[in-house]
Amino acid sequence: MKKYIVSLTVALVCGVAVSSASDFNTLIPRPSEMTQTLSDVTMPIGMTVSSPADFVDDAGRFVAAVNAATNLNATLADANGFIALSVNHAIPAEGYTMTISPRGVDIQASSASGAFYALQTIKQLMGANVLAGKPGETAATYALPIGTIKDQPRYEYRGFMLDVSRHFFEAGEIKKMLDLMAVYKLNRFHWHLTDDQGWRLPVKKYPKLTVQGATNRNILRTDFAQQKQWREGEDAVYGPFAYTPEEVHEIVAYAKERHIEVIPEIDMPGHMVAAIHAYPEFSTDPKSKKLDVHEDFSHEIWNKRGVSRDVLDVSNPKVIRFVKDVIDELVEYFPYEYIHIGGDECPTLAWEHSKSCQKLIKKLGLKDVRELQSWFTKEISDYANTHGRKIIVWNEVITEPNANMELIKEINPVVFCWLGGEQKAEANGLRHVYTPFNGGYYINRSYEGVDKHGAGRDGSLKKSITVMPPLHDNLIGIQGTFWTEEVDRPEDLEYLALPRLIGIAEQAWSTQVNKDYDEFLDRIIQHRAYLDLGGYNYGAHQLQK
Ligand code: ACM
Repeated sequence: MKKYIVSLTVALVCGVAVSSASDFNTLIPRPSEMTQTLSDVTMPIGMTVSSPADFVDDAGRFVAAVNAATNLNATLADANGFIALSVNHAIPAEGYTMTISPRGVDIQASSASGAFYALQTIKQLMGANVLAGKPGETAATYALPIGTIKDQPRYEYRGFMLDVSRHFFEAGEIKKMLDLMAVYKLNRFHWHLTDDQGWRLPVKKYPKLTVQGATNRNILRTDFAQQKQWREGEDAVYGPFAYTPEEVHEIVAYAKERHIEVIPEIDMPGHMVAAIHAYPEFSTDPKSKKLDVHEDFSHEIWNKRGVSRDVLDVSNPKVIRFVKDVIDELVEYFPYEYIHIGGDECPTLAWEHSKSCQKLIKKLGLKDVRELQSWFTKEISDYANTHGRKIIVWNEVITEPNANMELIKEINPVVFCWLGGEQKAEANGLRHVYTPFNGGYYINRSYEGVDKHGAGRDGSLKKSITVMPPLHDNLIGIQGTFWTEEVDRPEDLEYLALPRLIGIAEQAWSTQVNKDYDEFLDRIIQHRAYLDLGGYNYGAHQLQK
């Protein structure tokens, strides 16, 4: 990428077309194996791309992207393209091989995802403007190094989570993040759609969720550029903010074209006050107007840090029906195997005070309120299974004292470890994802030594690229997780998430177990041109030596 930028500068200065080869050593994530010669091959005007039926949609989108950014006038061909894709079942899922010779580029993959990632690699080698979908210099030519790449991801789960409850982010901003995820070969968008502060997913049978449940007041505002934080006052209404059904479908489809699965999260049975605000009958104490149980027990929508004590009354059949109805809706929107049902930070105070929860505990022969959560999780998981779906949970579902591991093992959930739990998941044979909150993977934490506001103030690119996941057989991947209690502007989402999410992507794909931070920094600095052209507002101070 760097050489390409240099050649553009030369072309601008001299007013002539200059061909330049790109460099495998600038690629992020770094491929598993690569050999590169000093020679290169120029991509011809009228370049053809041939593809078997299996990959033709991806090949067509590649041709369109190239033509939007260059004068190459690429076209699809039946066979013998300058770029020739073919199926090879011996190649691992999502992997590819690429041989670049003076005649062109031979790509082999066993899946459309593998073919897509090969074409993403070519786009990255072509340069920032192709990645950003922006027309380059008219005189520019594009060349690839003669050489070979053999590539496959380290992990099957390479994720980015965005919380759209604490603050709402428009569909357009989500698509912008999905574009970047695709460039760096991330493949799961974990969409945290509900929490105490707002419910953002339309559910046909419960229309108040996206009206009363999606309207907050006097929320926390932060402006990282000005290093300011404030509240607008009790009268300042925020919302209602929710996605339309069309937007949800659009985001799922947009992600799919980029080989990204969308994993919806409906956080339960805690983190539910937005829903309870809309439907107080879902609380253990529907009539409670205020603080009967605890100062943090109220049906008011939440607008501070921390979590409400007002949680779902899991002993109420209407609540179980509600959750099942929500699962039905999720199944309609999201075509993938996994549904995330949260389970983190669930206070049990309300259940301790609830006669009907206590009665249910006795009837089911459970030990205590925490076992009641395990029982609830199993109920919902069993229901998801009837739709052919499986569930994901946060680590508290296994790490809270008195969690019933017999029940949990029957559920066999994927466990997202943010506050430990990796060892317990591994010991119990549960597949898990590593996203430690204090280890560089909570990429909403503001920057150490830079930011006055925001969570943590201990973040850095260096942490995100040097904290290594445990070497567990059952570890299926890692995730960059982004909470938004203190982030409401799209530019600040980008400022904090980037460049760290690119570091996470490197870790998720590359098989290099111990990272050389200086080498990675040299490489990622060369990606500034893409971030600039793509209009991303990244933490530029992280990209300096
Ligand atoms: C979490 O950060 N509460 C999963």
